[in-house]
Amino acid sequence: MPEVKPALLNNLNRHLGLVGPSAIRAFDIEVSSIPDIIKLTLGEPDFNVPDHIKKAAIQSIETNDSHYAASNGTSKLRESAAGFLADRYDVHYDAESEVVVTIGATEAIYDTLTTILNPGDKIILPTPIFPLYIAVGLVDGAQPIFVDTSTNDFVLSPEMLKAAIAEHGDDIKAVVLNFPSNPTGVTYNEEQIKAIADVLRGTNIIVISDEIYSELSYENTHVSMAKYLPEQTILLNGVSKSHAMTGYRIGILAGPAQLVQKIAMIHQFATTTASNPAMAAAAEALGTEDGRQDTLNMKVEYMQRRDYVYEKMTELGFKVAKPDGAFYIFAKIPAGYSQDDFVFARDLAQKNGLALIPGSSFGPGGEGYVRLSYAASIEKLQQAMQRLSTYMKENAK
Ligand SMILES: Cc1ncc(COP(=O)(O)O)c(C=O)c1O
Repeated sequence: MPEVKPALLNNLNRHLGLVGPSAIRAFDIEVSSIPDIIKLTLGEPDFNVPDHIKKAAIQSIETNDSHYAASNGTSKLRESAAGFLADRYDVHYDAESEVVVTIGATEAIYDTLTTILNPGDKIILPTPIFPLYIAVGLVDGAQPIFVDTSTNDFVLSPEMLKAAIAEHGDDIKAVVLNFPSNPTGVTYNEEQIKAIADVLRGTNIIVISDEIYSELSYENTHVSMAKYLPEQTILLNGVSKSHAMTGYRIGILAGPAQLVQKIAMIHQFATTTASNPAMAAAAEALGTEDGRQDTLNMKVEYMQRRDYVYEKMTELGFKVAKPDGAFYIFAKIPAGYSQDDFVFARDLAQKNGLALIPGSSFGPGGEGYVRLSYAASIEKLQQAMQRLSTYMKENAK
């Protein structure tokens, strides 16, 4: 086993010192060794990939579709994705020049931030937020400007955005919006999207609009930021959450051609292209009637689970902004229990075998909260609520 020369470690990208491995994954690993633990930790759909989608991947393998595809993705998938975005959200992209297929939305986030940010640039991150944005921003040498939305039911208001812009001015390169949101499940309606677009229109700020959970919007119809601010928006989507295809690793990135082609360069440098069987499967998911129906079926089940968990946690004294999308509940730990979310989550996992993610993993405003992922069977959720109820009864101060 080679031992690294210590001096080499001091010569790495200096921004790496500002970040650590994903707190969510680290907590998940930490609690995984607890016997009989129920983990509602990861954003991982429990559904199987529908058969017609699997068949498309199998067919790709069986027909020796085994050579490098175009770097931006197969034209079939790009056309399916452009058609999907147009039909579902009324946003229009040229499949040839304005759409790129990435290795999950994760790679799209990395490529986009790395294209936009220079060291010292500022990026507005409404928090609580999917922590990858914080980590990649820091690795790129940027300065995250956190706007804590916990005081406004986890919605970035136009006023909050204006205040951040007024304070930081031209140093701001980008703002990230993620809706429906991980970790809160809260989303934005058409009025709210229009109002944010109005604030940004007069600026040179790029919106990274992460709409990976768009298909899992419940009472409200999802409205894309790209509908109101297409010239400044990089739209991120994919099949990980909509079609329970996290392991296939396919993301979609769309935006104005000249900007997208710059991002596509980073994509090319990092990955060359995504894998052919996964792209064939994603084209089936996004480009067919059956594929579009799959999401609707899953959504009905997610809504039932959300209603169940929301009701139970509210009964147990947690304060929850009712989620209108994704598959997360972000719940305030009631008074009378440790308000340190890591202490609370660890104690719950160790004493009663239920793992939730501590809210402070998602940045300012998440302290004192826990995130529960209800992408699990209703039986598992019922068992989880039983364990939570026992914990709350036995551990009140
Ligand atoms: C908001 C958000 N964006 C992006 C991703 C990454 O998605 P993918 O699995 O397609 O890389 C996730 C995954 O949890 C997410 O919650």
